[in-house]
Amino acid sequence: MTIASPEPEFAAPDAAARPLWLVPQGDDGPLWPEGVETGFAAASGFAARPGQLCLLPGPDGVGGALFGIGKPATPADRPARERFTLARAAEALPAGAWRIEGAPASYDLIHGALGWLFAQYRFARYKTAEPPKARLVCPESVDRDAALAMAAGEYLARDLINTPAADMGPAELEAAARALADRHGAAVEVISGAALAEGYPMIHAVGRAAGPGRAPRLIDLRFPGAGPAVTLVGKGVCFDTGGLDIKPSSSMGLMKKDMGGAANVLGLAETLARMGRAGGLRVLIPAVENSVGSDSFRPGDVLTSRKGLTVEVNNTDAEGRLVLADALALAAEEAPAVLISMATLTGAARVALGPDLPPFFCDDEAAAEALHGAGRDHADPIWRLPFWEPYEAMIEPAIADLDNAPSGGFAGAITAALFLRRFTEGAGTYAHFDIYGWQPAAAPGRPKGGVGQGMRAILNALPALTDRATGAR
Ligand code: BES
Ligand code: MN
Ligand code: ZN
Repeated sequence: MTIASPEPEFAAPDAAARPLWLVPQGDDGPLWPEGVETGFAAASGFAARPGQLCLLPGPDGVGGALFGIGKPATPADRPARERFTLARAAEALPAGAWRIEGAPASYDLIHGALGWLFAQYRFARYKTAEPPKARLVCPESVDRDAALAMAAGEYLARDLINTPAADMGPAELEAAARALADRHGAAVEVISGAALAEGYPMIHAVGRAAGPGRAPRLIDLRFPGAGPAVTLVGKGVCFDTGGLDIKPSSSMGLMKKDMGGAANVLGLAETLARMGRAGGLRVLIPAVENSVGSDSFRPGDVLTSRKGLTVEVNNTDAEGRLVLADALALAAEEAPAVLISMATLTGAARVALGPDLPPFFCDDEAAAEALHGAGRDHADPIWRLPFWEPYEAMIEPAIADLDNAPSGGFAGAITAALFLRRFTEGAGTYAHFDIYGWQPAAAPGRPKGGVGQGMRAILNALPALTDRATGAR
C-alpha cells in the first residue's frame, strides 16, 4: 500500500491569493486591520473571538476574510484551550488560494499553517470525501518543507490507523513499511515463521492464532546515512480481540487502531526522512493480530521471552507489552543512544488523562523535560508519568519472572511501562508513549478518526535527546 491520501499541499506561491486578515481582540472589540473596509463585519457581529470567521465582499464576490484570533496569547497560555484554531478557516473558507495578513508577532503561524494542512486530510479509501478546497499560501516565516514533511507523516499515520483490520493486517502493515522504505532507500528485514517462533517467542505466541495470510512478523527498517542511533518501536496489533480473555464488544469496536503505535513511528520516520534527518534511524514493528482460535495462547501460559525472562500470561488482552518486549529486547541488543516505544497500550492511560493527552515515561530528567517542552511548544501535548519503582512488585507473580496483567489493575499504565522497561537494558535514553491514536470527535485540524500523537514532540526533542547520548550508526 502506498500513501492513500493525496499529498498535503500549499497553494502555489504565485497564486492570486485573497487576504485572510488575522484580527486580535482588544479590550474594546476587534483590533481592525488598517485600510480594510470592516463596516460590514462590525455590523454583522464579528467580535474577533478565536476561530470566528467573517467573509468580506469584493468586486467579484468574496474579496477576503477576517479571522478572529482572540486576545494575544502569551507563552504561559500554551497549550491554548484549542489547538490548530486556524484550521477552522481552512474548513470554512471558499475554494481558492488564501494568504495570511496582519499576523501579530506573537501569533504562532507555524502551527496555523500546520493545522491548515492537517485540516485538509480526508480518509477517502472507501468513499469519496472532498477535502476543503481553500489552500493556504505558505507564510514566509514558515519552513514550508518542514511543514509538508510533518503533514505527510501525520497523513500516513492517519491512513494506517483508519484502514480497517481486514485491509490492514500484519501483511499490509509490512507492505506499508516496505513502501516507506522504498520511498527513502531504507533496508527492510522481516522475520516470520520458524525464525520468529525461535527468536521472538512472545510475538509469535500472541500472533499465531491469526488466519491465513495474517501470520505474525517482526518488521525491521534501517535508514541510510550517518546519524545518532535512534530506534523507534511501535505496537503493531492490527486487531485486538483480547484473545481468549476476549474483550466485550464495546471495547473491541475500535481495535483496528491497536497498531496506532506502529502508525505513529512510521509517520515519524516518514517526516524524519523527508527532512533528511533519518540517518541512523531504525524502526521495529511487531505486527500481529490478537485472535481467538484453537491455537491461541492461553491465560496461565508461561512464555519465555527473547531476553530469557519468563512471563506468566494472566490476561491475553495484555498482548501489547508481550510483542513489544521482544522487539525492545532486540533493539536494546545493539545499545542505541535513544530508544522510544509508542503503543496504544492501556485503557488505564485513557482513564488517567483522557484521549487527547498521552502519557509518556522517561527516567532521564533532562530528556523528559525536552520531550514535554517540545510537546508544549509544537501543539502536541504529552504528560509525564513515572516509572514508579515500588510498583515493580506488582509485575512479579509467583511462578514466572513477570506477570503481564497484575490483578486489580491499579496504576495500569505504570505497570505496563515498568514491564516494558525490563526489556530495554543496554539502551541509552528510553522513553515510552502510551498513546490513544484516535480523535473521538472532530476538532480543528483533526477529523474524527486516526490521529498522530507524540510525533512532533519526539521530532523536536530528538536533537536534545541524541546530543546527550553517544552512540552513532
Ligand atoms: N489495546 C488495548 C489497550 C487499549 C484499549 C488502548 C482501548 C486504547 C483503547 C490493550 O491491548 C489492552 O487490552 N490492555 C488492557 C490491559 C489489561 C488487560 C492489563 C487494558 O488496558 O485493559
Ligand atoms: Mn489487548
Ligand atoms: Zn492491544
